[in-house]
Amino acid sequence: MIHWKILIPAGFAAWFLFGMAQLADAADAPAAYKQHCAACHGADRLGGIGPALLPENLARLRKPEAEKVIREGRRATQMLGFGQQLNDAEIKALVEYAYTPIKPMPVWGEAEINASRIVNFAPGSLP
Ligand code: HEC
Repeated sequence: MIHWKILIPAGFAAWFLFGMAQLADAADAPAAYKQHCAACHGADRLGGIGPALLPENLARLRKPEAEKVIREGRRATQMLGFGQQLNDAEIKALVEYAYTPIKPMPVWGEAEINASRIVNFAPGSLP
């Protein structure tokens, strides 16, 4: 008979190792993102050559569809498939990462728009 004095610590060890593996997965997605995706989708996932990868604009895309885009790419776009470099777990982790909100979300309001304006000539200063 297996004694509970062995079974309980073994259970805790398994639980702990499983938890660590989950953590490692979660921690890997940002690194994989930096390596494979940031160049086009932006270091902060706010977009660049490729669209932003945020829950706000990915809401219309189902997660399995997002996985497919990452695995196979989108034809005739710069989005290539990563099925050769990334396995299913890594792709799933990247999808979860892409659907994670950014906190705090950058603000783009009137103040920021005004601050971004370049006024070469003050109004009324040209003949
Ligand atoms: C060479 C540039 C490039 C790289 C690198 C790249 N992407 Fe893309 N990605 C794009 C472009 C461009 C699109 C838009 C394609 C289109 O017009 O439908 C896109 C689209 C997507 C979409 C669909 C978004 C939507 O709104 O439909 C997802 C999801 C995505 N990329 C994830 C990733 C992930 C994850 C990586 C890294 C593993 C990655 N991409 C790497 C350029 C890139």
